[in-house]
Amino acid sequence: MNDRLPEGLVNLADHEAFASGVLDANAQAYFNGGAADEITLRENVLAWQRIPLWPRVLRPLAGGHTRVKLLGRTLVHPILIAPMAYQRLAHPHGELATALAAAVLGAGLVLSTQASTPLEDVAQVVLGEADRGPLWFQLYLQADRGFTRALVQRAEAAGYEALVLTVDAPVNGARDRERRTGFTLPPGISAVNLQGLQAPAPAALRSGQSPLFDDLLTHAPSWDDVVWLREQTRLPVLLKGITHPADAQQALACGAAGLIVSNHGGRTLDTLPATATLLPAIARAVGGALPLLVDGGIRRGTDVLKAIALGATAVLVGRPVIHGLANAGATGVAHVIRLLRDELEIAMALSGCRTLDEASAALWSRPSE
Ligand SMILES: Cc1cc2nc3c(=O)[nH]c(=O)nc-3n(C[C@H](O)[C@H](O)[C@H](O)COP(=O)(O)O)c2cc1C
Repeated sequence: MNDRLPEGLVNLADHEAFASGVLDANAQAYFNGGAADEITLRENVLAWQRIPLWPRVLRPLAGGHTRVKLLGRTLVHPILIAPMAYQRLAHPHGELATALAAAVLGAGLVLSTQASTPLEDVAQVVLGEADRGPLWFQLYLQADRGFTRALVQRAEAAGYEALVLTVDAPVNGARDRERRTGFTLPPGISAVNLQGLQAPAPAALRSGQSPLFDDLLTHAPSWDDVVWLREQTRLPVLLKGITHPADAQQALACGAAGLIVSNHGGRTLDTLPATATLLPAIARAVGGALPLLVDGGIRRGTDVLKAIALGATAVLVGRPVIHGLANAGATGVAHVIRLLRDELEIAMALSGCRTLDEASAALWSRPSE
């Protein structure tokens, strides 16, 4: 294991290319792959690239900054790390390295339910850093609601400040790349925070019944479970995986504290539009009533600026963090965050934006009100 930053990596695409020589085929299929034909996976990146920026010049820029307010806190910049499972598959230090880098660089961290490191150990790393960003726990509701409640209580006790309920993956997408490579988790890497969870007894299916609809999905979360979850916790509950304006309004009615516009990085339903395409309609639907975050395909500081311009308060970054982690552990993750933040500052300055409140002025064409 070598945690020195490789030379010559100057952007997130460089990290991705370098990581393809570090991660084996099994890990690459898991981390880089998407669902089916990977149309959404590709569109996520392309859609940000297609949005043109239109700068103003000669504006006052001194004293500018990237700060944003989110759920009662001021963040030094609007970049959070998306929840991603099994990070020890990318690097032996896994989630601990990601957490350390996030905390030192003031990036928010969202820990996955399927993390390969105990949630308490991750919290300890983050909470010890003075300049850290927010620390949130991503929740997949388990069929055993009692286990889910206990998991929430563990996250609360460990110091997590919000729950992120993922609502777009009642079942895995059809992940062709993973199936083609025969993806498996190596021994020693597992969802350690779910230890002790009993899988529900399989239903006795009659001929013609579907293992999906008549068994697995009988435990899938519903809007009632969002209300249930809010009753179990004092923490704010954000919903991750909202792509439809009507769902955004329902989430608001259910008391969600924030929404993450996400198509799960193109890993669930293929041919869903890119999140850059979805965001404006969701922003219109909630009308500033609650904070919006967005993820999927954010690879450049200009993408972050565009996301804010289209109505997001902050963004989450997924795969590039895994690439940084694979390339150089915590140093690599820190480098990825630093690159993105530096690029954001440059994009703001060249667009004539002193602060992110001014971001929408930098768009070539604004979403219609
Ligand atoms: C390897 C991998 C594992 C993921 N695991 C989870 C997870 O456990 N929970 C979750 O809500 N989202 C998960 N996601 C989705 C991410 O949180 C995020 O929505 C997506 O990766 C953002 O897109 P990007 O990778 O293009 O930045 C995962 C994504 C990847 C790539």
